[in-house]
Amino acid sequence: MSDTQDTSKLWGGRFSEGTDSFVQRFTASVDFDQRMAAQDIQGSLAHARMLTNTGVLNAEELADIERGLAQVADEIASGEFQWSIELEDVHMNIEARLTQLIGSTGKKLHTGRSRNDQVATDIRLYLRAGIDRAATELTRLQQGVIALAADNTDTVMPGFTHLQTAQPVSFGHHLLAWNEMLERDYGRLQDCRTRLNQCPLGAAALAGTTFPIDRVQTANELGFDRPTENSLDSVSDRDFGIEFVSFAALLMTHLSRISEELVLWTSAQFNFIELPDRFCTGSSIMPQKKNPDVPELVRGKTGRVNGHLVSLLTLMKSQPLAYNKDNQEDKEPLFDTLDTVLDSLRAFADMLPAIRPRKDIMREAALRGFSTATDLADYLVRRGMPFRDAHEVVGKAVAHGVAEGLDLAEMDLATLQQFSTTIEADVFDVLTLEGSIAARDHLGGTAPAQVAAAAQRAAARVDAR
Ligand code: ARG
Repeated sequence: MSDTQDTSKLWGGRFSEGTDSFVQRFTASVDFDQRMAAQDIQGSLAHARMLTNTGVLNAEELADIERGLAQVADEIASGEFQWSIELEDVHMNIEARLTQLIGSTGKKLHTGRSRNDQVATDIRLYLRAGIDRAATELTRLQQGVIALAADNTDTVMPGFTHLQTAQPVSFGHHLLAWNEMLERDYGRLQDCRTRLNQCPLGAAALAGTTFPIDRVQTANELGFDRPTENSLDSVSDRDFGIEFVSFAALLMTHLSRISEELVLWTSAQFNFIELPDRFCTGSSIMPQKKNPDVPELVRGKTGRVNGHLVSLLTLMKSQPLAYNKDNQEDKEPLFDTLDTVLDSLRAFADMLPAIRPRKDIMREAALRGFSTATDLADYLVRRGMPFRDAHEVVGKAVAHGVAEGLDLAEMDLATLQQFSTTIEADVFDVLTLEGSIAARDHLGGTAPAQVAAAAQRAAARVDAR
């Protein structure tokens, strides 16, 4: 590490030799934090306007800073801006260019602030915009799921436990179960936004500043609810990032569960749904293949988001107050999480409304597997038999059905009566799929009327956002 070079750093005053060129690369973050440039400029403008109001800068200086930052923003947007690794990060790149453009007034911008409160502000602004985009996509996804559910209140499919046929359910009911997971995710996302939306500006390096500042003004201008309470906490807190990635890990976990069902359901063995070709790809060797790549990839991407959650928790573990350079490591996991969530939500919001249930095949599958066995047991209980005895009776009938290749509804009355004389002709009302689902007629149950009402309530909740 002897390879040093002389560069004029913004902080070079107390140094007697240049930074080792490897260390320069090792410590730089500009390659990945330049994506916060717009937020950095937004924060600088608010800071400069506040300093002007409190008399630290004059109107002319502010005008120069505003003009210079507008030009910097244009250069970045058009791609002409020269990012430099010698200037380490997005903050110093922008400040250095501002000074080139407007002269020494540019050097006054950093009065009363530090990169520590600056970066804490930039990430919050960046993440807040990302949260709002994620909320929009999540809402679009939920609307698609709810609409599909409303169209399928009386589409019957087998419900599973242990992935074994359990009881018939409405396909709409299954879809609304997905919506409940997503509804909780939406709530977590908004909770995260609320706690994130406080402005750290004014904390400066860690202890605050000796200049007159108006923290409420900068907080308001940047759309924050209020300034943060404690300067030490302001520059060191990354809870908001961890909370966002926690939301994301749980969302992706939900999407992976939905993905798994879509993958199963598109297989030849289930064949429950049609996934439009535009969400699938083929195989280079097997001409018959149509692979559900989109749900598979979303399922796979869950792993990296879960990994980012562990990264961030471990990053913050045992960190002493206040700012530590460790925190520069927060950005890549956060940004990758945001990108992954936005892409996955977009893919799902586009894809889910386009899936088509193969109703005949779902119905056929529900008819197999003795899915109405519980209904027969409940029927016997309603006629006075203790539930455990009813369970035993139905178990025997099922064993007979397995041996003979018959479902319960396919046995005649005389056959059923061999297992219990309590059984009468009206038993067939409960052994049909429609009878079975219609009987679960209570809040949260799978009766089509309940599912229709639940879909309406779900839609109303989403519309009220
Ligand atoms: N690039 C740094 C980060 O991402 C900015 C803050 C640096 N502050 C400092 N005193 N070194 O955290």
